[in-house]
Amino acid sequence: MSDSARLRLFFALWPDPGLGQQIWDLTRGSVLASGGRPVIRENLHLTLAFLGNVDAAILPELRAAAAELHSPGFEFALDELSFWPRPRVLVVQPRTCPGALPGLVEGIWDAMAPFTLECGPGKYRPHVTLAREAGPVPLQSLASQLSWRPTEFCLVSSVTDPGGARYEPLARYHLLQPTPEAGRE
Ligand code: 2AM
Repeated sequence: MSDSARLRLFFALWPDPGLGQQIWDLTRGSVLASGGRPVIRENLHLTLAFLGNVDAAILPELRAAAAELHSPGFEFALDELSFWPRPRVLVVQPRTCPGALPGLVEGIWDAMAPFTLECGPGKYRPHVTLAREAGPVPLQSLASQLSWRPTEFCLVSSVTDPGGARYEPLARYHLLQPTPEAGRE
């Protein structure tokens, strides 16, 4: 099979432009201090599940499987800026996260189980990568300014251009939001 018939796919939460800008503004100093290669603002995201290179022919089935997921919405804060020495990345991550986030990740992997994929579930550490090939910067608490209540998650194709990674959203899936009636007697 030729390379053109393969797509590099992952599921992610994508911040809306306002939150993307906030992440960018609040972390700019640390990104510069890290000396790393910044992830451009439009590319900031939180990976849920990285599938690797996938035969494009299975995309319709894969999308349909993801559409069967009915996961509840949740809220969390990106409140810790951290340097991860192994991949040499600067990240912003939640210190604590609601169980619904790893629950969503587990649901995605369950939905992907029928497919033969390059990658599978591993230890999940939610984070947004801010810079790659970074140097150490001190751990920093961001209080809870970067509060995130995602309404959807997406299936994204990663294309490597000479200028860097380009991400193309292929499908969006709503997260269930509580109705005003929820919780009432
Ligand atoms: P990162 O932010 O930790 O670098 C698209 O490439 C996304 O998938 C990136 O956000 C990247 O996560 C993640 N990713 C890339 N390669 C991966 C791999 N081999 N295993 C897990 N996640 C990967």
